[in-house]
Amino acid sequence: MKLSKLFFGLAACALTAVPFTALAQQPIVIKFSHVVAHDTPKGLAAEYFAKRAGELTKGKAKVEVYANSTLYKDKEEMEALQLGAVQMLAPSLAKFGPLGVKEFELFDLPYIFDNYEELHRVTQGAVGASLLKKLEPKGVTGLAFWDNGFKSFSANTPIKMPADLKGKKMRIQSSKVLEEQMRALSALPQVIAFSEVYQALQTGVVDGTENPISNLYTQKMFEVQKHLSLTEHGYLAYAVVVNKKFWEGLPADVRTQLTAAMKDATAYANKIAKEQNDKDLEAVKKTGKTQVYTLSAAEKTAFKKALAPVHAKMESRIGKDLLQSVYKETGFDPSKL
Ligand code: LMR
Repeated sequence: MKLSKLFFGLAACALTAVPFTALAQQPIVIKFSHVVAHDTPKGLAAEYFAKRAGELTKGKAKVEVYANSTLYKDKEEMEALQLGAVQMLAPSLAKFGPLGVKEFELFDLPYIFDNYEELHRVTQGAVGASLLKKLEPKGVTGLAFWDNGFKSFSANTPIKMPADLKGKKMRIQSSKVLEEQMRALSALPQVIAFSEVYQALQTGVVDGTENPISNLYTQKMFEVQKHLSLTEHGYLAYAVVVNKKFWEGLPADVRTQLTAAMKDATAYANKIAKEQNDKDLEAVKKTGKTQVYTLSAAEKTAFKKALAPVHAKMESRIGKDLLQSVYKETGFDPSKL
């Protein structure tokens, strides 16, 4: 009697213990979805993060990177993150408006940053931290900002002056500031998911677009855009975000290790961003399919003058105080454009 009780007791223990042991050995899977090619600043940084996360957690966490919109496209990925279908993303800062965090669109303002140093004063300072906090009520935790680069216009006709974009259908990301930017040039903005841009350019749904060179090159847009003008009129960077509930539910040690992995990946991302874009510009030139044009000083001034009014027009959308604190950080004065 006693023995059989012990037997049943042990059997019950074994039945419950086995799944727990098995569970304890299963890594925590973090699906990291993004829309660009793997050999871009974001793609490479995501892979670097996956590697560091594996090393620092000693295999307790496994980051699976899904590049090139293979898992979700622009709009879907944000919804999937909130639903917990995917745990991590790094959308461009121009894509947070639909989530209800329109302040991120300040990064889309024309010529607001002259260089990466000015940008970092914002992304790595108090303003950047306050922006990431705005994501929390949406069920999203912001972990870091990652660089990409300065955007330039491309089309099938030469772009030397603002008037060259008049009446052109231009693909944009889902940002009201970018919409206003295109209107300031008398162009016709069209929001299209990144994964569909190549085809939209190829079939003439749109005439042109704007991109950092790394995106233009790795998506092969040079095949369907005859002209690229180095306007460098705006900036494109990313916020690495994670589902808040998932993040807060992680064992504390794993979360600390992942935070350290993210710190390393951020340093890596920001180190390679310019290098990748410079390298890809040379690669675009080598294809011979896209004419690359460098604006003269007078032409650049004409673009600045045409785009300056976007700052005042978008001030109420972004928030006057926020905008002023960014101007203060960077020393930017829109009236001097
Ligand atoms: C775009 O849609 O043009 C970019 O946001 C793509 C990216 O993630 O760099």
